[in-house]
Amino acid sequence: MSVTQLCYRSRIHWPALRHSLDEEVERSLTRIRRINSMAGVTGALILTDNHVFQLLEGPWPSVKRTFECVLEDRRHSDLTVLSNEEQDFRLFHNCWMHFCDLREEADSHYPSFSAISLPILTAPAVKR
Ligand SMILES: Cc1cc2nc3c(=O)[nH]c(=O)nc-3n(C[C@H](O)[C@H](O)[C@H](O)COP(=O)(O)O)c2cc1C
Repeated sequence: MSVTQLCYRSRIHWPALRHSLDEEVERSLTRIRRINSMAGVTGALILTDNHVFQLLEGPWPSVKRTFECVLEDRRHSDLTVLSNEEQDFRLFHNCWMHFCDLREEADSHYPSFSAISLPILTAPAVKR
């Protein structure tokens, strides 16, 4: 069965935040994940210092309804759709909204380059 994958970028609209950004994200993610699981919408949300990227995937009617809610949310603006296409599979299967915080001052969810590369660089050479 084909799914729609819609990806957009938007700018955080700071005056519309009622709480700190961390708190807004935490509260919204809980709510978003509950709604998305009922709607069958999976995807990912990436936060940078001033922007948001989001991938929404699922049956087109569900993605369309979700995207309409996204568009109405005043906490972001300048929304640009980057892609909107049909695919044969989901990229974020069973993940109602993966979250990745890429703000500069935030603790990265991913190990740094050195943390990844160090064990490789220091591992003994494999003898053949
Ligand atoms: C960056 C961003 C991502 C969002 N993603 C979703 C989503 O995946 N699913 C959804 O139903 N609503 C999504 N929304 C819409 C809001 O969560 C929705 O308007 C919600 O009802 C707001 O309620 P709240 O103020 O309690 O968080 C998103 C909004 C923003 C700003």
